[in-house]
Amino acid sequence: MSDKPRVLVTRKLPDAVEARLASNFDAKFNPDDTVYDAETLVKLSQDCAAVLICPADKFTAELIERLPSALRVISTFSVGYEHIDVEAASARNITVTNTPGVLDAATADLTMMLMLGAARRASEGEAMIRQGRWESWSPTGMLGTDISGKRLGIFGMGGVGRAVAARARGFDMEVHYHNRNRLAPEQENGARYHETSETLLQISQVLSLHAPLTPKTRHFLTKDRIALLPESAIVINAARGDLIIDEDLIDALKSGTLAAAGLDVFPGEPNIHPEYHNLPNTFLLPHMGTSTVETRDAMGFCALDNLDAVFAGKIPPNAVKAESV
Ligand code: DGY
Repeated sequence: MSDKPRVLVTRKLPDAVEARLASNFDAKFNPDDTVYDAETLVKLSQDCAAVLICPADKFTAELIERLPSALRVISTFSVGYEHIDVEAASARNITVTNTPGVLDAATADLTMMLMLGAARRASEGEAMIRQGRWESWSPTGMLGTDISGKRLGIFGMGGVGRAVAARARGFDMEVHYHNRNRLAPEQENGARYHETSETLLQISQVLSLHAPLTPKTRHFLTKDRIALLPESAIVINAARGDLIIDEDLIDALKSGTLAAAGLDVFPGEPNIHPEYHNLPNTFLLPHMGTSTVETRDAMGFCALDNLDAVFAGKIPPNAVKAESV
């Protein structure tokens, strides 16, 4: 029997990450990348000292209650940790860790793609070509809207929000933000702070959501808040689907209150609201914000740094606290 800590790895991870796991731990891999249900997670974790999980693995209080007493750490391969009941874990002395920072650039790059894709009608244009419907170039055909010169409102100015701001400046956008706390001037870098989300919404010609999903931010974008946005605004979400109420967003997109939306995340994903399938003024991606080779490797190494620290008796670099949820 191995003297290395036994780790349940709930999903197939990048090769380089699995190689490091195999060398430092007694890892129980999931080569088929099956999405385990709660019963299976509980069963497979019984002989483990750690679990390395992903956002689709829901570590509720009930599930955490059934984890073995020897389990010391839940390390999530994600910055978001709304899928883990951190309070329940800490009540059982289980450390929870995440992977912040390493995914800011990839997520911000994809956010700009969502913005451009939504503003410039990329989905409609691509479908026209693929379906053989492109007849001729036309002076009035496929008109979108510039993002250049527009006011961008960033809701949540953490690492990803700031990386989006940096990129948006390159597109000559005017950057505004709302955050729980105002940033230091060097981090603001000219972005205008709004003490309330309401004043941010009122000026946001493009609204981009980058807040974590918490009880306070869940269903942030309601129809009342959409009504505060300027006419023909564009909504972008590369954070978490549940920041938005789908029905309210869909109504606003259908009525033309909103010009377009660029979405990488959805409530209940991958089973998204069926109305999105036929909404032409949306640019939709399947939760790909961090999907680059470099970033997924970095996320895995970050998750492993956290595990290494716990088993070396040190404080892990990215421990999550219950009160910050
Ligand atoms: C995260 O890290 O929370 C992302 O959503 C995963 O891509």
